[in-house]
Amino acid sequence: MINNETKERILETARIEEVVGEFVILKRRGSSMIGLCPFHNERTPSFTVSPAKGFFKCFGCGKAGDSVTFIMEHEHLTFPESLRYLANKYQIEIEEEAPSQEMVEAQSQRESLFVVMTYAQKYFSENLINSDEGKAIGLSYFRERGFTDEIIKKFDLGYALDKWDGLTKSAQEEGFQLDYLLKTGLTIVNEEKIYDRFRGRVIFPITNLTGRVIAFGARILKTDPKSPKYLNSPETEIYHKSKSLYGISHAKKSIIVNDACYLVEGYTDVVSMHQAGIENVVASSGTALTVEQIRLIGRYTKNITVLYDGDSAGIKASLRGIDLILEEGMNVRVVLFPDGEDPDSYSKKVSTTELLDFLKVQAVDFISFKTKLLLADTAGDPIKKANLVRDIIETIAKVPDAISRAAYLRQTSVLMEMAETVLLGELNKILTKSLKKQREELNTGQSSTPSSRSNNDELPADFFEPTEEEISAELDTFSQEEEIIRILLHYADDVFVIPGSVAEHPNAEMPTIKVKDFIVAELSEDGIHFSNEIYAGLLAEFIVQVEQNLSYDAQSFIQQLEPTIKATAITLVTSSYELANWAERGIPVRTDRQQLHRAVIDPVIYLKKKQIYKMRKEIQESIRIREATGIFYDDLIERQRDLEEIQKEINKYTNTVIQR
Ligand code: CTP
Ligand code: MN
Repeated sequence: MINNETKERILETARIEEVVGEFVILKRRGSSMIGLCPFHNERTPSFTVSPAKGFFKCFGCGKAGDSVTFIMEHEHLTFPESLRYLANKYQIEIEEEAPSQEMVEAQSQRESLFVVMTYAQKYFSENLINSDEGKAIGLSYFRERGFTDEIIKKFDLGYALDKWDGLTKSAQEEGFQLDYLLKTGLTIVNEEKIYDRFRGRVIFPITNLTGRVIAFGARILKTDPKSPKYLNSPETEIYHKSKSLYGISHAKKSIIVNDACYLVEGYTDVVSMHQAGIENVVASSGTALTVEQIRLIGRYTKNITVLYDGDSAGIKASLRGIDLILEEGMNVRVVLFPDGEDPDSYSKKVSTTELLDFLKVQAVDFISFKTKLLLADTAGDPIKKANLVRDIIETIAKVPDAISRAAYLRQTSVLMEMAETVLLGELNKILTKSLKKQREELNTGQSSTPSSRSNNDELPADFFEPTEEEISAELDTFSQEEEIIRILLHYADDVFVIPGSVAEHPNAEMPTIKVKDFIVAELSEDGIHFSNEIYAGLLAEFIVQVEQNLSYDAQSFIQQLEPTIKATAITLVTSSYELANWAERGIPVRTDRQQLHRAVIDPVIYLKKKQIYKMRKEIQESIRIREATGIFYDDLIERQRDLEEIQKEINKYTNTVIQR
């Protein structure tokens, strides 16, 4: 049985929107997410997910639950099977109590492997510190490299004697079965010969998240061109190279505290940085970075800084790793060490403060890094340069967050001296292509996804919007745009009293305005655009109405719309308010004509507030970039001031009138 602590950890880690998101395409709507229900056939989404509460609920078929129930229902698994599924997805180690017979066996097998590894680690440490050979060769080697006794102890470094069967023999004498020695890869059988894998090498134990030894890395000491510099444990039941990071158990606390992680290449880099007092560091140990490794870091921070050796030949090949980090929605910065230096050697040359300063100053974002690295190769050749631009845009397309994408695009435009619109066109092409591919995979690969998708789902009009991503709800204007359109569709020609207006004289009528006139004027005045294409299309129809002074009739208005837009309009006219989730967010649902002015003004104000915040952020970023590149930016400052003014006005309203 999986113990309660593990259950809690699984539920804590398995975020509902991620778990569901693997099977259902979710779009953000306010604080919730919405998609087509995977449990019944439907054309209009009524399946909602609340990340804050950790629940899903379908308003169509009534199914509801948390991450575990979702997997049970969707994958037809039992409760413990679902827990295991999620534990596996999030690499959570399952701790069992009173396990079943077969689990006892599997578990005791794994447990035995751990025990053997612990024995071996102690044996290697003992050799290093107490044997003559270990002291003379291993320990003096570490000392020569400047490793303190303290750090040697902390990382349980060791030494494998230069003998054929030192460990195997000693372990067998202690009563360990040969079977386990073979399964851990510590011992090798070859044509009747049985011998140690690691001989005459210093040992770096590799641990899992909880600090248990799962493998060893072993460095050769003599110069022998026939033997590899490092020899590592093979894949075993307890060691999966692609899911492990050297140093993770020692680093995790510091990663959380610093909300950042350094990624280095080698064992010695990790050890030396620790010795210098920098503990939020892990190594991919010479292999190409994997998604699992990135996710392991991602459990503790979204910020990774990759440190490259000055002479690392593999930098270009490793750029793929950066793309992978970006794809996971994480932030990546890069530090290139001076020629001939790696974090290990450099940390020994300078003080800790100097090292930290160096890391801070040298860390560049991936665009500058990639551009600098590759621009040299283009040597002014326009074709090569075009290819480089495309390459960089491909990388930007990997960033799930739309606002970050926009900022990166602007930066590339400055760095490459190319018009942003050209770059945007290229980005759009790539995004459309990858989206189509994603959908195709979804439609063919997963029978569980309803095939009755309506056409307008083929390519979501808002694919520029960060729907499935971690964009803060603060900036998402989807629900406001929807609400504004909904109000227009219901009440376009209704009139209400102009807010803040005063009658000319006590007996005069208060000045009134049509809903559509008010909305169109308010939005165009401050240059506010809708980010959702369908809603923008609908708004455009109303703008035409206002401009041509036509009167509004819901039915004929909707009839003449283009099919995809029409579908949305019909949904908005007929759908229940529940789906907008206003009530859930503590916002009273206003359907009453008596309250029309509030129902109209609130979403407009909040849309403006968010849009202006977004624009200010974008301008700030542009200013930052222009400042860095020495380009004139007075115009941006001016625009910034205008926006501040508008924001002040809005705040006056929101602070006094609405409490949210
Ligand atoms: N590596 C490996 N097998 C090799 C070479 C390297 O597994 N034959 C891995 C090791 O994890 C090593 C990392 O790649 O730590 C980086 O390699 P390198 O920079 O050559 O080693 P360092 O860690 O810098 O070791 P040293 O400073 O002792 O040379
Ligand atoms: Mn090195």
